[in-house]
This record gives sequence, C-alpha cells and structure tokens, in this order.
Amino acid sequence: MGVLKVFYFSSFLFSAVYAAQECSTSVCGTSGFAIRFPFRLQGTQPENCGYPGFNLRCNSQGVIILSLPYSGEFFVRSINYGAQVINLYDPFDCLPSRLLDFNLSGSPFMPSYYQNFTFLSCPSALTRSRFTPIDCLSNSTHTTLATSSITLVASMTMCKIVATLPIPVSWPLQYDEGFSSDLNGDLHLTWDVPNCVDCEANGGMCRFQSSSSQEISCFNDPQAGKNKGRTNFRIMSFFITIPAVVCVITLAIFICFACPRPRWGRTNAAWQNPTPAAVTPETATVTQGLDESTIESYAKVVFGESRRLPGPNDITCPICLSEYNVKDTLRCIPECQHCFHADCIDEWLRMNGTCPVCRNSPSPAHA
Ligand SMILES: *[C@@H]1O[C@H](CO)[C@@H](O)[C@H](O)[C@H]1NC(C)=O
Ligand SMILES: *[C@@H]1O[C@H](CO)[C@@H](O)[C@H](O)[C@H]1NC(C)=O
Ligand SMILES: *[C@@H]1O[C@H](CO)[C@@H](O)[C@H](O)[C@H]1NC(C)=O
Repeated sequence: MGVLKVFYFSSFLFSAVYAAQECSTSVCGTSGFAIRFPFRLQGTQPENCGYPGFNLRCNSQGVIILSLPYSGEFFVRSINYGAQVINLYDPFDCLPSRLLDFNLSGSPFMPSYYQNFTFLSCPSALTRSRFTPIDCLSNSTHTTLATSSITLVASMTMCKIVATLPIPVSWPLQYDEGFSSDLNGDLHLTWDVPNCVDCEANGGMCRFQSSSSQEISCFNDPQAGKNKGRTNFRIMSFFITIPAVVCVITLAIFICFACPRPRWGRTNAAWQNPTPAAVTPETATVTQGLDESTIESYAKVVFGESRRLPGPNDITCPICLSEYNVKDTLRCIPECQHCFHADCIDEWLRMNGTCPVCRNSPSPAHA
C-alpha cells in the first residue's frame, strides 16, 4: 500500500513536469492573453496540448482565430478559463450578418441562451430616427432592425420580415417590448467539456494525463500566474514528501519488527495524551500527523450516483488522481471542505497534519 502511494506521488510529479514542458502556454502577436489547455495554438503547440475542437490559429496581424465547422472564422477577443467563456467578434465588424447564418454543430461551444430575434427590413425614412438600426446591414433606402419583441414585429406593418431565428445571447432580454437591438456586442460562447471550472478555481490547470491519454486531470502548474508561489510550494512539498514517505515507511517497518507488541493501538494513552513534560518547544513546532481518533472524527461521505460533491471539489481524488467511483468512501476535511478517498487522506493525515490541497491545518477543536 505504502509503496503504491509512493508510486502515485512520483508518477504525479513526473507527469506534471512532463506536461509543463511539452505544453507551455502560448501567445499570439500582441493579443496579450495566454493560450493553453483546452485551447491549443496550431503550429506552435503539439496536438495533445489541446482538447479536440479547441484549435486556434494566429494570423499575420497577431489576431487569434477560431474556426467553427459550419459558421466560418471568428476573431477571438478573450478567453476566460475559470468561467469557461470565449468572446468572439466578426473580422468584418458585422456580427448580425454572421448570426443570420449561424450553426454551432460540430463544435464544443454553445451560447448561454438562445433567444428568437426577428430581422426586419424597413424603409429608412420611417425607422432611422426611432430605432437602433443594424448599420452594416442598412443602406440609404433600407434599414435593417432586429428585435425579440413580437409586438414590435406586429406593429411594423411597413417592414418586410427577413428571418426569425434563434440568436445566441448571454442573457435573454425580458422587458424589451418595442425595442430593437443592433446585436453588435461580442459573441460569448461557453463549453461544458472538458470541465475544468473547479480545477481553475483551485489554482490548477487541466491537461491530458499523459501524451497518449484522453483522460484529463488537474495539475498544479508552477506557471500558473497569481498562484505561482503557492503552487511552487506545493510542488516543493511533494518533492519533500517522497523522501519523507520512504523514511516513515522504512521506520514503520523497522519499528513493527523491532518492538514487542502490542504498542501502537488506538488505545495507547501515551500516544493520544502526551504528558505536559513530554511536550518540549522543539516537538511543538515539528509538523506532525494526526491521531486516529481525530482522523476518524472527520466526516465520511459515500460518493453517490449524482457524481457531485459539496464544496470546492471535482470528481478526482487530488492525492491518487483517479476519479471517484460510485460508492467510494471519501473523507472531507471540515475546515476547508476538501475531499479525498478515505484511504488516501487517512494515510496522509497520519503523517502530515495539513490538508494536501490548501495546507490548512485542521483546527485542534476537532481533535
Ligand atoms: C447545422 O448544420 C448541420 C450540418 O450541416 C445540420 O445537420 C443542422 O441541421 C444545422 N442546424 C441548424 C440549426 O441549421
Ligand atoms: C423560437 O421559435 C421557435 C419556432 O418559432 C420555437 O420552436 C422555439 O421554442 C423558440 N425558441 C425560444 C428560445 O423562444
Ligand atoms: C438597399 O438594400 C436593399 C436590401 O436590403 C436593396 O434592395 C436595395 O437595392 C439597396 N439600395 C441601395 C441604394 O443600395
């Protein structure tokens, strides 16, 4: 079991270092934002650095381009990795003309909502001063309007209906009776798969587990901007943990064979209640593991069919990096709500009294 854990830790380290080298973040021209998993800059980053459907290109002007299978090329304004939103705009500055023939089939992206809009072509003389026209679809004699208001469409008897179709929107307008929109904002699209929301929220980054794998995992990347210090510390602590784990296991094996039994049961009073004389200033500052009764006092949960967990958790155990299976027993640390396989975290807490994700020390109140 212990040897297995050491293996897990070292394979975790190896793959994190491997992936960090292979898939460093990329930038395109002066556009100023990083391109990284699930996106990939074609021609710069290897294929396994991005998720299928998330390929981007960089043009000679340094603009990032996303190609949608049935709707052509859009320029990328920005990407929000934490919220999983990509903001697009039309290279020719006429998004409404693109929305008239918009189809997201075959791409991983979708809008937050669709809302039906009717496009109207009206005589310019009648409409210009009263409504917000779509300038790029209007000329001196005909003005194009778009509206989600059925009453407005019904009242505009002098206009010709061009089309009524679902338009991707961030938020459906509820009280827009009588108004028209020029639909000229950026197009905000989201994606569900791969889901890295929790990983990003915890300062990590998703990647494929290895160069040949299609499974994704959350890694704590030393390049992760604002969390740099914290993640460096975590990686360092793993480097320190491996020799420490080996030492502890060796020591434990030695003690098991060298000492007369029974000594190490849960009822050992000296272990649970050290006498005041035994607590010297040195021993008080050394990081120690928790005793069994403290560990046992932390809530256990059984991973259910809903495949959801409370708090800042995704469905992968941060210690062994395998996904939870339904009916797995997990244990959550009360202070920070981080959950793990019970077997994994119990072993960790026996050696180290802090949460392996956020380094919070469970408070003595729980002892
Ligand atoms: C989008 O394009 C696909 C492939 O051509 C087609 O099957 C689908 O019906 C289209 N969807 C819409 C809403 O036009
Ligand atoms: C848009 O209109 C179509 C047909 O007119 C209707 O089936 C669909 O439910 C409408 N969508 C929304 C979001 O209102
Ligand atoms: C203005 O656009 C309409 C169609 O929207 C077209 O029929 C008309 O010929 C155009 N007029 C001019 C002056 O370009």
